[in-house]
Amino acid sequence: MHNNIFIAGSGIWYPEARVSNEELVNSYNQYVENFNNNNRESIEDGSVEAMEFSSAEFIEKASNIKSRYFIDKEGSLDINRMKPRVNNEHPDRLSMHAKVGIKAAKKAMKQANVSPSQIDAVIVGTSHAPRNYPALAIEIQNEMGIKGYAYDMLVGCSSTTFAINNAYSDIASGLAETILVINPEINTPHVNFTQRDKHFIFGDGCAACVVQKNSNSNNAYKIIDRKLHTQFSNNIRSNFGYLNRAAIDVKTNEELLFHQNGRGVFKDVCPLVASLISNQLEKNNILPHEVAKFWLHQANGKMIRLITSKILGTDDFDESITPMPIINFGNLASVGSLFAFNLDNDLEPGQKGVICSFGAGYSVCSIIVEKL
Ligand SMILES: CC(C)(COP(=O)(O)OP(=O)(O)OC[C@H]1O[C@@H](n2cnc3c(N)ncnc32)[C@H](O)[C@@H]1OP(=O)(O)O)[C@@H](O)C(=O)NCCC(=O)NCCS
Repeated sequence: MHNNIFIAGSGIWYPEARVSNEELVNSYNQYVENFNNNNRESIEDGSVEAMEFSSAEFIEKASNIKSRYFIDKEGSLDINRMKPRVNNEHPDRLSMHAKVGIKAAKKAMKQANVSPSQIDAVIVGTSHAPRNYPALAIEIQNEMGIKGYAYDMLVGCSSTTFAINNAYSDIASGLAETILVINPEINTPHVNFTQRDKHFIFGDGCAACVVQKNSNSNNAYKIIDRKLHTQFSNNIRSNFGYLNRAAIDVKTNEELLFHQNGRGVFKDVCPLVASLISNQLEKNNILPHEVAKFWLHQANGKMIRLITSKILGTDDFDESITPMPIINFGNLASVGSLFAFNLDNDLEPGQKGVICSFGAGYSVCSIIVEKL
């Protein structure tokens, strides 16, 4: 049985500063040159390993990424810093995550045709929480004058879709009728810009959507089915957390940052996601070629193509069915699939699409939607 629950509207925000592969590589390669010059003797006697240069061609070939947007381009590309300049959380000012969340939320609410007084709850899902408490969602709820309740949740790269799923469940169980889902993904403070296999992957951005019972919006998509799956893996991991300052096994900041075995992820996740979506479509009596858009997680263009070709049973398909904001925005952690949805969802009434995230955890969530 279908509940009449919709994604009634969505909105995105991203920073102004665009960073091309060439700019990123230029900074990284200068850093490498300095490092190798400064450590020449140790490199020659074998006690230190020389760093290797990166290239714009490799990045585009390996990932399809051409550019990304950063909250602080200057700090991130400064070879004496190699990280964005951000402020600590502070009780006297609105947090950066709340600010960008509200920007995306206002666009989603406009599209959904809802005002703050109609919203019953706020759910924030993110892979990088700036603090443990008070919840970001409650900060945003307060700032926007929204009644009801609000909470945060962390599910790595599936934080956005799992949050949409929670909104659906809260509405279906009668707790709320209209829920604002907000997903800030400010990834760059957690990226090691001095590591060749990781420096190019992430950008910063935020998405939001309104999940609502009985929407009257022209942009509404009915949620037809949800499928969630998790399976433990250390292949994408962050060891950063509140234990660090008290830990007796001291680790450097670099050791605590985002880390991944990209090849391992690729090998594990592609077959898992392809079979999960195929089974879900079959269960819902939808033939793969009837799906008008696959709005998939934006971690790698090759992964998107491989998963889509496995589902369709052919690698000969029109690439416009798999929007790829990764090309311009890089990997946006959990908001990649919602960026894809937001930027390319001009379907005809009755046409169906699949929003699917996959990544750290591993966590996968696939949502079948139909244009109202
Ligand atoms: C991260 C990713 C783009 C890397 O692509 P890859 O083809 O696996 O690349 P590798 O890191 O294995 O490196 C391949 C080769 O290029 C080299 N290389 C790595 N980074 C390089 C760089 N920046 N510039 C030039 N060469 C580089 C490596 O040394 C390696 O050389 P070798 O074959 O001689 O050892 C890819 O694995 C990926 O996207 N995986 C999925 C990750 C994912 O889904 N994560 C979810 C997070 S939300």
